[in-house]
Amino acid sequence: MASTVITGIGELPTQDDELGTLTGAAIVLDGDRVAWVGPESQAPEGDERVDVEGRAVLPGWVDSHTHLVFAGDRTAEFAARMNGEPYRAGGIAVTVEATRAATDEDLAETVRRHVDEAAAQGTTCVETKTGYGLTVADELRAARVAAGVADEVTFLGAHLVPPGEDADDYVDLVCGDMLDAVAPHVRWCDVFCESGAFDEDQSRRVLLAAKKRGLGLRVHGNQLGSGPGIRLAVETEAASVDHCTYLEQSDVDALAGSETVATLLPACDLSTRQPLPDARRLLDAGATVALASNCNPGSSYTSSMAYCVTTAVLQMRMTVDEAVRAATWGGARALRRETGDGAVGVVRPGARADLHVLDAPSSSWLAYRPGVPLTHAVWRSGRTVA
Ligand code: NIG
Repeated sequence: MASTVITGIGELPTQDDELGTLTGAAIVLDGDRVAWVGPESQAPEGDERVDVEGRAVLPGWVDSHTHLVFAGDRTAEFAARMNGEPYRAGGIAVTVEATRAATDEDLAETVRRHVDEAAAQGTTCVETKTGYGLTVADELRAARVAAGVADEVTFLGAHLVPPGEDADDYVDLVCGDMLDAVAPHVRWCDVFCESGAFDEDQSRRVLLAAKKRGLGLRVHGNQLGSGPGIRLAVETEAASVDHCTYLEQSDVDALAGSETVATLLPACDLSTRQPLPDARRLLDAGATVALASNCNPGSSYTSSMAYCVTTAVLQMRMTVDEAVRAATWGGARALRRETGDGAVGVVRPGARADLHVLDAPSSSWLAYRPGVPLTHAVWRSGRTVA
């Protein structure tokens, strides 16, 4: 692959602690890596030169929470919710039925379509989950399908107790045969720890069984009410606890004293008519915050990370810099991919060549011009995708 020198950059929030936010910088991409970052006047020659004419360049968005292995449609459930019906975890069963009936090709096409849709909006790294199969064969199939398309795959067999099954028997299955089958194909295990899904003891069993098999941990916690999810995530040293919509002081303290990232999913809270999470309280306490889309057909059918950033700034009292960092470096940190060779969510030599050029001079336009498409160009692993 040829090397590319990118010049004319208006603002470059690298998300690298030493480089900081640069102006008058240039970036050199070589193959699928960032080769050089520095003042434009000192930029080395490359095979080609691209002048972005004063536009801001960001690391590509890192969407660390999606559920893309699905079939079917829940428009009617969404419409009912907008007419006052509450969101219920049980809606997951509707997608499970449709997903089990779909072909492997249909499922792979759906994941690919949404990953491409996200890439066209600046998302260059995507995590996705199983969780709409809920049998050994269907969860294994979902993991294999996802592994062929997404950057990171998470096993979420503990998404819902399949209707008609006994909860403890199902947890036995998840902790035994299901994990045995799926673990070789995934890096992460997640559990929906919430009333209506899995209680604290059941969730702990799943997480510890996954840890024993060498998987990293993630938790869906405190989405629909206060509960044990956040504390359990911290106790089990999960990389991330996602949602965090309902926070007790003890949850904030636990997160602030831990390595567990609080991943906030504002598009989901809006689509389910929940309150927005108190990002300010988490940040002020010293917790690490990520923003993700939670793209799925039930609770959050958007792939737009820009929408999440805009919402975080306009409605969650995050600064633009905090929100952009949470949607890039924060997502990478939630996936433990913010350092080392091929790091994502950051622009520094050695990082993956993932860039998002905004049709704007600064990232503040993401909130200043809400709802306006601002993606000018995207590089993912050194290739232009938009
Ligand atoms: O993160 N909370 C659990 N899982 C998804 C919702 C999935 C669905 O409703 O289909 C979420 O919101």
